[in-house]
Amino acid sequence: MDLGLGERTALVFGGTRGLGRAVAAELVAEGAQVVVIARDAARVAQTAAELGCIGIAGDLSLPGAGRDLVMAAGERLGRMPDILVTNTGGPPTGSFMETSEEKWRAGFQGLWLSAVDSIQTALPAMKAQGWGRILAVTSVAAKEPQPGLLISNSLRAGLLGLVNTLAREVAGNGITVNALLPGYTNTDRMAELGVDDASMGPKIPAGRLGDPAEFAALAAFLASERASYITGQAIAVDGGLLQSI
Ligand SMILES: NC(=O)c1ccc[n+]([C@@H]2O[C@H](COP(=O)([O-])OP(=O)(O)OC[C@H]3O[C@@H](n4cnc5c(N)ncnc54)[C@H](OP(=O)(O)O)[C@@H]3O)[C@@H](O)[C@H]2O)c1
Repeated sequence: MDLGLGERTALVFGGTRGLGRAVAAELVAEGAQVVVIARDAARVAQTAAELGCIGIAGDLSLPGAGRDLVMAAGERLGRMPDILVTNTGGPPTGSFMETSEEKWRAGFQGLWLSAVDSIQTALPAMKAQGWGRILAVTSVAAKEPQPGLLISNSLRAGLLGLVNTLAREVAGNGITVNALLPGYTNTDRMAELGVDDASMGPKIPAGRLGDPAEFAALAAFLASERASYITGQAIAVDGGLLQSI
């Protein structure tokens, strides 16, 4: 299937490891010109060299970073991104009483405001050209709260409301906005949380963690010409984990 991405530009946040890297690799393979963002400058440079894309070091936990990084990507690409993938590291874990106001604010900046800032900055060019794709990486936690992930469970559910509302606002401009909900997928983040096939596989209908490439395949399709009539959706890639209809 030709995804029609050969002339497209894309910006992938958190694109040096895990899900973001797999999405960036898939978009590059489909012919798009891609920018990846992450904090570790050495890894950014290495990823750019390995994937054949542009790398920009930046920290999405800083106020205004979403806006600044979209502008920086636009300068490096020579035009604003047609495809924006909002994605970042997972917030800290902890129970309600362990979660300080500082942690809530940091989570809100990283998970929420970085997405809002970057989308607001990227949208005008998408509207002007009558084409755009916004993909928000959230989590199955947005639909089914996961144990110990208070900040993630709370904020990601709200992001689905943002995605659905914005999708309807810009649908007439040729822009689609969708949320992608990864289930348990084999990345550094899962290794840090001590999650692997042995511990989690029996709880997942597919019997194993997902591969980042399986997630990236959906992202590339939703970014494509072919997905022009799919918008405002929250689509899980979770091996059957979510039980809600
Ligand atoms: N993997 C899963 O099973 C799973 C399931 C549900 C939800 N998710 C969510 O999906 C997102 C990606 O997960 P992942 O497993 O791919 O994580 P990961 O392996 O930890 O990769 C995170 C990527 O984001 C970058 N990053 C982290 N914090 C950043 C910041 N403040 N500013 C800019 N870049 C930042 C990292 O690079 P640097 O460290 O160099 O910045 C890295 O490239 C997370 O929000 C995670 O909670 C993952």
